[in-house]
Amino acid sequence: MKNTPRFFTIGEAAKRCGVATSTLRFYESKGLIHSIRTHGNQRRFLAATLRTISVIRAAQKVGVSLEEIKLALKALPDGRQPTQKDWVKMSKKWADTLDQRILELQRLKGNLDSCIGCGCLSLKSCQLFNPNDEAALNGTGPRYLIDGAPKKQE
Ligand code: FES
Repeated sequence: MKNTPRFFTIGEAAKRCGVATSTLRFYESKGLIHSIRTHGNQRRFLAATLRTISVIRAAQKVGVSLEEIKLALKALPDGRQPTQKDWVKMSKKWADTLDQRILELQRLKGNLDSCIGCGCLSLKSCQLFNPNDEAALNGTGPRYLIDGAPKKQE
């Protein structure tokens, strides 16, 4: 005998995942999760979707963007919901990304520390404007006057 899939209303799904119903509508509008509609046009979520919601919430808590999460979910074969094994893989990849961000933030914090109490905002010596004298790589002389202002970091 075949198992009948279990469905949840938006309220039930929200309660089980510890999120607001508006969050689920938002995730759905962004294509992160999907529901089916009843004849009365009410949403119903498959039980497996609750796992996807949990993955999204966990990833968001460590700063993974919705766009990155969407890409990871899209990469799953046949559009299936993430399994425990998938989550292990995703979390490993995101942990590596997080490590890189932490290193970058520590570097920026170090640069900012050298500015505290200074106030010079010098293109020549301020690490925020010219980290590690990168302007020197473009040649000698006033590189920002010759080449234009340095590109802002995103
Ligand atoms: S403001 Fe002087 S080093 Fe950055």
